[in-house]
Amino acid sequence: MTNAALLPLSGRTAFVTGAGQGLGEAIARGLAEAGARVALADVELANAEAVAAQIDGLALRLDVRDEDAFCDAFGRAVAHFGAVDIMVNNAARTPATSLWDITPQEWDDVLAVNLRGSFFGCRIAGRHMRERGTGCIVNLGSMAGQQVSAATGAHYGASKAGLLALTRSFAQELAPHGVTVNALAPAAIQSPPLEAMEPVRQQALRAAIPLGRFGRPDEVAAAVVYLASPGAAFMTGATLDLNGGRFMR
Ligand SMILES: NC(=O)c1ccc[n+]([C@@H]2O[C@H](COP(=O)([O-])OP(=O)(O)OC[C@H]3O[C@@H](n4cnc5c(N)ncnc54)[C@H](O)[C@@H]3O)[C@@H](O)[C@H]2O)c1
Repeated sequence: MTNAALLPLSGRTAFVTGAGQGLGEAIARGLAEAGARVALADVELANAEAVAAQIDGLALRLDVRDEDAFCDAFGRAVAHFGAVDIMVNNAARTPATSLWDITPQEWDDVLAVNLRGSFFGCRIAGRHMRERGTGCIVNLGSMAGQQVSAATGAHYGASKAGLLALTRSFAQELAPHGVTVNALAPAAIQSPPLEAMEPVRQQALRAAIPLGRFGRPDEVAAAVVYLASPGAAFMTGATLDLNGGRFMR
């Protein structure tokens, strides 16, 4: 039998955006397994509810593009749990549209979800954590924000590069208040966007990974648990690469 008090995140609370499927779902599950109580926010409420039911979490409908709705959902999590210790900005759109075909609407929407939504998440959680003098924010970047990617669109890469810069700005601003802000930069993790890719493109992608396989969602969750744990308290403004050796620096 697990002694809940011995788990690394026991007594902590987390808010995960885009938690209804894919990596967000795995991150919510990983945080719950590590002892945290988790709010699962997603624009697809039914998906968030299905996962929340299995981990005794709080499901919330949230479109991260809307700052007022974000404030409201975050406030509901604070009211429910008493506080939020861990914020994970994970919600994103991952279109692979050729840069010649990206419409202004698609450009704006990808930037609005991936970058503006994460900005709102950092700022709303940052205010709450600054007041409490403690907290941890994890932003889901991507290798596509560090080097060119054939698997995703230019707007996606631009949004993720922006998110790495945003991570450093919030890290600098919040460091004096005991709040850490870090980014993960995964690549080629088994997930709905990867599975939607044609088999021949999947093979080419896998062949370019030195470790010879795709990453697993639970490996991304483990990195988030680490960043949220006391052992990572001296890390802020960092980007943690999770790419099987595809991009070494
Ligand atoms: N899968 C990978 O290999 C990979 C690689 C690098 C980075 N990432 C990053 O990891 C994160 C999760 O990716 P994934 O592969 O699980 O994607 P996914 O498309 O499977 O999941 C995205 C989730 O975000 C939600 N979402 C979309 N728009 C939203 C909005 N406006 N408001 C709230 N929720 C919204 C979706 O409903 C969905 O549940 C993303 O930030 C992505 O960029 C993934």
